[in-house]
Amino acid sequence: MSVTLPDELKFIQNARAPQNISTASLDGKVCVITGTTSGIGLVTAHRLAAFKAHLVMIVRNREKGEHLQKEIKEKYNTECDLFIADFSRFEDVRNVAAGLKENYEKIDVLILNAGTFLQRKQFTDEGIEKVFHVNHLSPFLLIGLLKDKLIHSAPARVLTVNSEGHRFSRTLVEDLEWKRHLYTGLRSYGNAKTAQLLCMQKFSHLFEGTGVTINSMHPGEVKSNIGNENSGAYRFYSKHILSHFLKDPRRSAEAIHYLVADDRVLGVSGKFFNLTIEEVPAKHARDAVMMEKVWKKSCELTHLNL
Ligand SMILES: NC(=O)c1ccc[n+]([C@@H]2O[C@H](COP(=O)([O-])OP(=O)(O)OC[C@H]3O[C@@H](n4cnc5c(N)ncnc54)[C@H](OP(=O)(O)O)[C@@H]3O)[C@@H](O)[C@H]2O)c1
Repeated sequence: MSVTLPDELKFIQNARAPQNISTASLDGKVCVITGTTSGIGLVTAHRLAAFKAHLVMIVRNREKGEHLQKEIKEKYNTECDLFIADFSRFEDVRNVAAGLKENYEKIDVLILNAGTFLQRKQFTDEGIEKVFHVNHLSPFLLIGLLKDKLIHSAPARVLTVNSEGHRFSRTLVEDLEWKRHLYTGLRSYGNAKTAQLLCMQKFSHLFEGTGVTINSMHPGEVKSNIGNENSGAYRFYSKHILSHFLKDPRRSAEAIHYLVADDRVLGVSGKFFNLTIEEVPAKHARDAVMMEKVWKKSCELTHLNL
């Protein structure tokens, strides 16, 4: 007997549903991707290179980045460039955006993948809660700074690697310092991912009619190093217990490839996908009033005038 779940619970079914897969070539396409030194980003870098992308990787660890760059160039005989930026520093993001604008005639694909999960509250040098800074504000800043470049490159596709974790919390834009709310890892993660989803929809309005599309996706529950910046106890739990329930990150890479390259997604914008299946985000991640509030706050904190 098949059960029809309400839209907001479809993610349970979608996680088990057969996924779309693409063999679309990325030959001649400049594909910028953040966070390729581990987990989903690492496997995705390999997949995009295997499909002939001109890869531009943005990583925070130079040594790991250079090692990967060498490996990819040798293995796929393709162009692979490297930029260094810590996404907990706006200055790094601004420098990378300037470098991208200067070095590339066009950007065909921009994938915002780098992210973190922190059980304990931390603040960046800019005084911003770190998960919100790394997972939402820095990607927001990069998209904003590259807006004109992307429009000039049209057709171009932007994809943010978001999460079903957005369902764990509405965005707490009125208390980003967590003075009035109890901080937990899941709530801060949900806060940042919800903010990103709301802003993705607003960006899609901004890009309307330009040939630039923007979407967000949940990459599945897969094995990676996420959470490794937490205590030894969390890392032990993650490695020895949680990981047994997680899948191979190649399914995330296949989904990302499909979303940024396949004709079936051509012209689709402002949507959330569970891997490759379009899905309705949580109600709080579609709230028009909250969308304006988060957008305004994100512009203010990143000093963007969009
Ligand atoms: N794994 C899952 O099941 C899952 C589920 C839902 C959503 N996601 C999302 O998927 C994305 C990738 O995560 P993952 O699971 O692949 O985790 P991961 O293995 O920890 O990879 C995260 C990547 O982001 C980079 N990164 C972290 N903090 C950074 C910072 N401050 N500045 C620049 N780069 C930074 C890491 O660099 P280093 O190598 O230097 O640490 C790494 O390359 C994240 O956005 C995450 O929220 C993952």
